[in-house]
Amino acid sequence: MTEAKLEALLQESRAFPPTAEFAAQANAQPSIYTEAAADPLAWWHKQAERLTWHTEPTSTLEWDLPNAKWFGDGMINASVNCVDRHVAAGRGDKVAYHWVSDIEGESRTITYAQLLDMVCKAANAFTQLGVKQGDRVAVYLPMIPETVVTMLALARLGAIHSVVFAGFSADALSSRILDSDCRFVVTADGAMRRGTPSPLKPAVDEALQSCPNVQSVVVVKRTGGDVNWVEGRDNWWDDLMAPQSTEHTPEYFPSEQTLLIMYTSGTTAKPKGIFHTTGGYLTHCITTYHYIFDLKVDTDVLWTAADIGWITGHSYIVYGPLAAGATQVMYEGLPDSGGRDRWWKIIAQYGVSKLYTAPTTIRTLMKWGDDLPAGHDLSSLKLLGTVGEPINPEAWMWYRKNVGHDNCPIVDTWWQTETGGIMATPLPGITATKPGAAMTPFPGISLDVVDNEGQSVGNGEGGYLVATAPWPGMTRGIYGDPERFFATYWARFPGMYFAGDGAKRDDDGDLWLLGRIDDVMNISGHRLSTTEVEHALVGHPMVAEAAVVGASDDTTGQAIVAFVTLKLSAEEASKDQAPLIEELRQHVSHTISPIAKPRQIILTPDLPKTRSGKIMRRLLRDVAEHRTLGDVTTLTDPTVVNMIAGLLETEGAED
Ligand code: PRX
Repeated sequence: MTEAKLEALLQESRAFPPTAEFAAQANAQPSIYTEAAADPLAWWHKQAERLTWHTEPTSTLEWDLPNAKWFGDGMINASVNCVDRHVAAGRGDKVAYHWVSDIEGESRTITYAQLLDMVCKAANAFTQLGVKQGDRVAVYLPMIPETVVTMLALARLGAIHSVVFAGFSADALSSRILDSDCRFVVTADGAMRRGTPSPLKPAVDEALQSCPNVQSVVVVKRTGGDVNWVEGRDNWWDDLMAPQSTEHTPEYFPSEQTLLIMYTSGTTAKPKGIFHTTGGYLTHCITTYHYIFDLKVDTDVLWTAADIGWITGHSYIVYGPLAAGATQVMYEGLPDSGGRDRWWKIIAQYGVSKLYTAPTTIRTLMKWGDDLPAGHDLSSLKLLGTVGEPINPEAWMWYRKNVGHDNCPIVDTWWQTETGGIMATPLPGITATKPGAAMTPFPGISLDVVDNEGQSVGNGEGGYLVATAPWPGMTRGIYGDPERFFATYWARFPGMYFAGDGAKRDDDGDLWLLGRIDDVMNISGHRLSTTEVEHALVGHPMVAEAAVVGASDDTTGQAIVAFVTLKLSAEEASKDQAPLIEELRQHVSHTISPIAKPRQIILTPDLPKTRSGKIMRRLLRDVAEHRTLGDVTTLTDPTVVNMIAGLLETEGAED
């Protein structure tokens, strides 16, 4: 679509009001906003009644900035809320997951009753291994049902899961295990990727060389490949589960029992162990799931196409949907495992009614052509969602037309690992939608856009996105680092949570997210810090200095561009550097993850620095995005940046 055509489209249809049919049947009614705004705490307390409490909470919020306690005197078990209570209510035969393998034709259907049996067995098995309340357990698993079973079994015991995305390297895994002192690891022999096994266990073995406190490893057999085995430490999942009983009596824990740790990139090289507790987090997940996905629990088949290794998977594949008793599709593979129309086949086969995914995937599917979705029956779809990065209007319009057939509301949901659940979104049936806008805070959530002084900006203006009141799903902190927690989120604007995102209000007062304002990049919806990648690069023996920026990219939203100076003799410097560039890319991939592999590495004799020695990333971003350079007068040597721009034109190898 040309710019002019797109502009015309946006002009003609700036906002899409809900259809009368959708509005008439929607879960939420317009009064939800006024009711929640009139007394947010009372409203959230009412939402907490969606859960089954062992002891009902009498308190709603105890708030001593930045420390929150939600439903503090309530007692609850997350696993009971996700499985037992549905079985007890006679819904044991309802499907919890249609698990769809990477390999076409392979699938598993798991009912709530079956899930309960699996969770109870796993809880018994983990107890036998010595897992106790408060223990941290690293989970390094692909998208298989055992991942969910592991999380729920640990939650059932009051143990804390720290799920590490299976695409992360051994180094990344070991640093996360060490940071929260995990004593157990649950993994698999490997993952399936487009029909080919991709080993996981070797990364665990490598990681554990520097993690002496890990006492047991549990290994799910997924690919059937050979694995290295450490007797006395390693246990096959099936061997452990086989003798266990399907009965397990749950204990109940305080609402503020830590449920999970999820590492996410900040602005330094060290990822932050964001932790969430139980009652507030579950309340946030189940309530947002109910309203935003307009959940019709008896008929819906929902598909959150994300990985459980990220917060989206935690909140909207595991805790929100299961607490609500929903039926989902859980897909193991890549969008093109078995062919580029795999997604459309899955939607048609299972009658998926609600689809939730990231803009980067939408852009990829869009590139593969309109005829692929057109070739399948997608008429079961009723609602579409996006998350993880700003969605460009072109992708939004494509999604609406080619996937939703102009008939499905699109919920563009803004939130973060730290927020636990969705914070800003249209509400289907109530809010109009605009291509690229998150529109409005969820009921009971207070967001604002403020200027440098923390003053609310007017309509038509931009600034920093903040939350002005606590909310149930908010992180309770950075594991083991309360000072960093305060400094990162609560110090910039007194009394407000600083999200790190830029945002603007349009002339109607609706909210548009503009991307990160710090050194955090967003690559295909994955968060990575520039310093983390720089750290990996300077860890290579040939690298003297590195500066990394996120440059805009048509498919991945942002892509990593690295500017590197080398430690080279004159003779080495005269050689063809293409093999070294490739080696550096592989080095980053191995040190962090393939998602961190720079799109482009520019070798340069120097980096642009201010007189105080700070690398001018802003200028490098301009260079990487081929923009006219901004103010260069503060540089020690203004010619450096022009030289780099020249190198980028001539040398930059892209793929
Ligand atoms: O920059 C925002 C972007 O993703 C960041 C949070 O990343 P993470 O913690 O990995 O969680 C991603 C899934 C919830 C935010 O600070 N982001 C998330 N959703 C949106 C978004 N940017 C624009 N629009 C969104 N809908």
